[in-house]
Amino acid sequence: MSVQIAPSILSADFAALGQAVAAVEAGGADLIHVDVMDGHFVPNITIGPPVVKSLKRVATRPLDVHLMIADPDRYIEAFASAGADMLSVHVEVLPHLHRTVHAIKALGVKAGVVLNPSTPVLMLEEIAGDVDFVLVMSVNPGFGGQTFIPRSESKVRDVRTLLDRAGNREALIEIDGGIDAGNVARVVAAGARILVAGNAIFGTADPANATRQLKANAEQALAAAAAPGR
Ligand code: DX5
Ligand code: ZN
Repeated sequence: MSVQIAPSILSADFAALGQAVAAVEAGGADLIHVDVMDGHFVPNITIGPPVVKSLKRVATRPLDVHLMIADPDRYIEAFASAGADMLSVHVEVLPHLHRTVHAIKALGVKAGVVLNPSTPVLMLEEIAGDVDFVLVMSVNPGFGGQTFIPRSESKVRDVRTLLDRAGNREALIEIDGGIDAGNVARVVAAGARILVAGNAIFGTADPANATRQLKANAEQALAAAAAPGR
């Protein structure tokens, strides 16, 4: 078991996405995190399936597509055919979450569910056994470069407990928002195994090196968390 780094291209130069992907892949990125925003569920508007399709042509790592949109059911197929390898949907907008999760899986894509900071872990109770991963938002979605909400750390622990109780030990926890060298150790110790980072990677002069550093910090934290006596 290791920790995966998923650089968020939201903070990259949108006129040079191919170069951004190449840089973080050179730095050891495990996934490419793609933030899809519709101006309804979140205030910002970003990208859609055509951009995912173009990214798929250049990326050598799986595309982790985070749907921050009001009506994900309508677009799941389009993102899957565009090349998404992982699709995550927010529980806040889905009254038929079970159907949505299975629809994603039926397309051969890994299915994740996302919790906003104010959404209780309890919302996962009935779906915990069905998901491939859970994404814990550690900022309110919509923008890169925000500050990590400290309570997210205990939330990750609670999600881990819930997944294990549901017998879903393989499901990974992803954390997204304000992740940087200062909080990597805490979130990994809490159980996060996929770390999204936008500003901490693309806000630096050397995204490849920033990816490498973050990955090294995460692996170190994982080794420490697994050490005897901890
Ligand atoms: C926020 C997005 C994040 C964002 C993270 O709405 O879901 O993926 O890009 O960016 P940082 O790491 O800058 O908080
Ligand atoms: Zn995201």
